[in-house]
Amino acid sequence: TRKIIIDTDPGQDDAVAILLALASPEIEVLGITAVAGNVPLALTAKNARIVCEVAGRTDALVFAGCDAPMTRPLVTAEHVHGKTGLDGPDLWEPEMPLQAAHGVDFIVKTLRTEPSGSVTLCALGPLTNLGTALTRAPDIAGRIAEIVLMGGAYFEVGNITPAAEFNIYDDPEAADIVLHSGAKITMMPLDVTHKALVTRPRLAAFGGLGTRTGRFTAEMLDFFERFDIEKYGSEGGPLHDPTTVAWLLRPDLFSGRFVNVEIETGSDLTRGMTVADWWGVTDRAPNATFIGDIDADGFFDLLTERLARLP
Ligand code: BDR
Ligand code: CA
Repeated sequence: TRKIIIDTDPGQDDAVAILLALASPEIEVLGITAVAGNVPLALTAKNARIVCEVAGRTDALVFAGCDAPMTRPLVTAEHVHGKTGLDGPDLWEPEMPLQAAHGVDFIVKTLRTEPSGSVTLCALGPLTNLGTALTRAPDIAGRIAEIVLMGGAYFEVGNITPAAEFNIYDDPEAADIVLHSGAKITMMPLDVTHKALVTRPRLAAFGGLGTRTGRFTAEMLDFFERFDIEKYGSEGGPLHDPTTVAWLLRPDLFSGRFVNVEIETGSDLTRGMTVADWWGVTDRAPNATFIGDIDADGFFDLLTERLARLP
């Protein structure tokens, strides 16, 4: 099994990523660290626990991490995710506890105590917790098996500004630290997530599972996709974050290139832009595998089959 820490700002698509990981026997979720992003930290930390309760995994460890980007004020995305961050289903006050430790401390401690190269970080929100951990404890960089993150864009450019994708835009300084950490990095940019669309039949497949998880997923995604359909006119909303977990389970569903990726931190106009040297036109050293394509049917088949295993 592969040990992972999920760093997340749930978020309906984050929630599906967490469910996919919890449903997959190849993956052991050591902990879930919440970060401020789609909504403020108090809500992402609450939503992460609601999702664990849906999956019947009240034994999971959920930590609250950073409540704002490393150097900038927080920008949230209620316009996409709703006021709760998880709009769609009726939500409740989770019964499972939030762990007392800070999420960043958990990340540092886990990477220092688990065997070097055995822990993968799965990052689904702004990279604040990871950037803070790498700044505070640079020794952990060499101990990370892999960082697989949802963030950035190349041909598909921005969803929060014309130039930038939300997770990178929110905390470009943290993203810059992560990209230059020397760790093995795989990025799922909008170019690939905009090919993973929750079409009506795919949505119906979740609802049709006839389980609590299936219903919860369908209700979340029914809300989530409205925004993208109205805004971009696509045939369904993109399911961004679960692509990261799918990568760990089925890398054969994806293709991409190991390229240099730099983050714009200076300009206001292009803040958080991911400048990926897809065509190799610079001599800058490659630092990330930038995924460009996905077998979307294979991805949704995997997801539906896995979610069917949960209560
Ligand atoms: C990313 O931003 C958030 O709104 C989603 O959860 C996803 O992580 C997409 O740009
Ligand atoms: Ca997210």
